[in-house]
Order: sequence, then structure tokens, then C-alpha cells
Amino acid sequence: MNVEQFKQDVLEGLSQHPQKTLPAKYFYDAKGDSLFIQIMAMPEYYLTNAEMDIFKNKSFELIVSLGMDKNKHYEIIELGAGDGTKTVELLKALVNQAYKFDYLPVDISPNVLNKLGDMMSSTIPGLNIKPKTGDYFNVLEQLKVDHIPKIVLFLGSNIGNLKDHEAQEFINHLSSSLKTGDKIVLGVDLIKSREKVLPAYNDAQGITREFNLNLLDRINRELGADFNRDQFEHAPCYKEEEGIAKSFLRSKKDQVVTVAGKSFHFDEGETIHTEISRKYNDEVLNKILSGSGLSVVGKIMDSESLFADYILECN
Ligand code: AVJ
Repeated sequence: MNVEQFKQDVLEGLSQHPQKTLPAKYFYDAKGDSLFIQIMAMPEYYLTNAEMDIFKNKSFELIVSLGMDKNKHYEIIELGAGDGTKTVELLKALVNQAYKFDYLPVDISPNVLNKLGDMMSSTIPGLNIKPKTGDYFNVLEQLKVDHIPKIVLFLGSNIGNLKDHEAQEFINHLSSSLKTGDKIVLGVDLIKSREKVLPAYNDAQGITREFNLNLLDRINRELGADFNRDQFEHAPCYKEEEGIAKSFLRSKKDQVVTVAGKSFHFDEGETIHTEISRKYNDEVLNKILSGSGLSVVGKIMDSESLFADYILECN
């Protein structure tokens, strides 16, 4: 992570009127990574179990939707592979059914890739795993030169942190990195009631609160700032009509905070917008896919219809 870029993004975000913002991508320092692992294990965070249900119990449907040919050799490319607990279920099923493929997890963190590689090779002996360190699109660009059919996995509703126009750009870029017939498995959380969604971002143990406030600690440490975390509170919200969970940090009092030598005033009750978690349905997805050259060829949901893995095909 480039400190100059971090500083520029934070100063720019805090200078915005009327709504101060901070980019969600900066949540993930070492502490943020470990808090996110705790989030995925929380009882309120239904997303993980729901997508796990799909990969464990509906891998057959998933493979059918992917329309794979046992005589061909594939590259299964996972963007932001994480701990691989869901993917390993699909890979096991593919190996058991004698499909031929290499598994290429892509992540900016070599540390994440090493751990994942160890887990995968011990769970699936003989798996051909080719970890790629770096930016998603740089890696995809390198891979585009060959004619090996590709399946890209982008799971866990990771696309949810993007605004719709950003998601559209991301999908267009992804589509342009692929060839006709290539597939994408896009995991998204589905639009549902506030009663179900909001607790996932406002858990009883306060882990999400810590995750949000950790961003202030990180800014203090890496940019020389004096945020007092006790003077800000975690404030999430969600409206089903909109389908977007939003997280804010709300100033508990009128105060001035200094970041990298610059002062920022906060009114009592003023918020910093830190994250969006977009929820999807067919309509939202179709808007994002319009003009991308991708078509929906499958949709697999968990047993409670909380989460969907859409299968997209490149025209
Ligand atoms: C990693 C984007 C899927 O939005 O649900 C979880 C991040 N933030 N709790 C999500 C997150 C707060 C998560 N994604």
C-alpha cells in the first residue's frame, strides 16, 4: 500500500462537502484483515454460510451451469482468493468428476496466497495450483495471451463495495480480459429485509464497529493524525427499497481533527461515509451487465435464497 496515495485519498475524502468520505479499501491493514475474518464467522453475517451452502451442496448445479467439457483443460482464476474455504468445495467436486484444470488464485498479498496454497494442496493432493501475486487486471492481461478456456471466480459479494457505475466499469474491464465462451462466477448478496441485513453490519459483539473504527487508528498511525476513536461511533444503515447497506462514523461532539498537518472540523452528529455494501437482484445485475458483452447463463441460490452465484458467459 502506497502511503502517499493513502494520504491523498484520505485528505480528499475528508475535504468533501457536504458528506465526508473515506475509501473502504483502506480497512484492510493487518488488524482489519483479522477483524474481517472475525466478521465472516459472526452469527449475524449470513453471507458466508449462504455462499458456503451453494458451494457445498449445489456444486453439481454450478458445474452444469458452467457447461464444462471433460476433454478440455481450463484455468480457474479466483480474484481476491481469501481463505479459499468455499472454492475448495468446488475444486474437490471438479477433481472427483475428472475435470481438468489449473487453479490460479490472484491476490495482492503473497502472504494470503501462501496460506491458501498450503491449505489447498493439503486438502486436494495433486491439485495444479499457480498462485499469481498482483493487481487483478494485470494478471488477467498476462493470461489473455493463451487460448485456454477460463473461469473467473469473484465471490463473497466483494463487488458490493463498488458503486453501480464502478461495478459496471469493473465488469466491462473483466469482460474485455476474457474471450468468447469464458465464464465468470459472480457471488452477490441479494436484496432483502432490513431485519436480516442490518444486523450483519451492526453485530451484537461490536466486531463491525471495531472494523469501522480501525480505519481511524490506521490513519492516526500511518498518516500522523489525532482522531480520538472514543469520540466517533459506528453508524450503519440500510433501506430495502435502495438495497445498499452503508456504514458511517459519526462524530459524538463538535471537534477538530488534524490529519497530516491539515485540520478538519466535525459538527456534533456529522458523519464520515466509510463503506457501501450493495445488495443485488436480477434487475440491478442486468443494468450493470448492459453493454458488457456478458450474459447471465445461470443463477444458483442457497437454500434460503439469501445469496446468489450468477454464472456469466462472455459473448
Ligand atoms: C467484503 C465487501 C463483502 O460488504 O459485506 C463486512 C465487507 N464490511 N462487514 C461486505 C464488510 C463490513 C464485506 N465485503
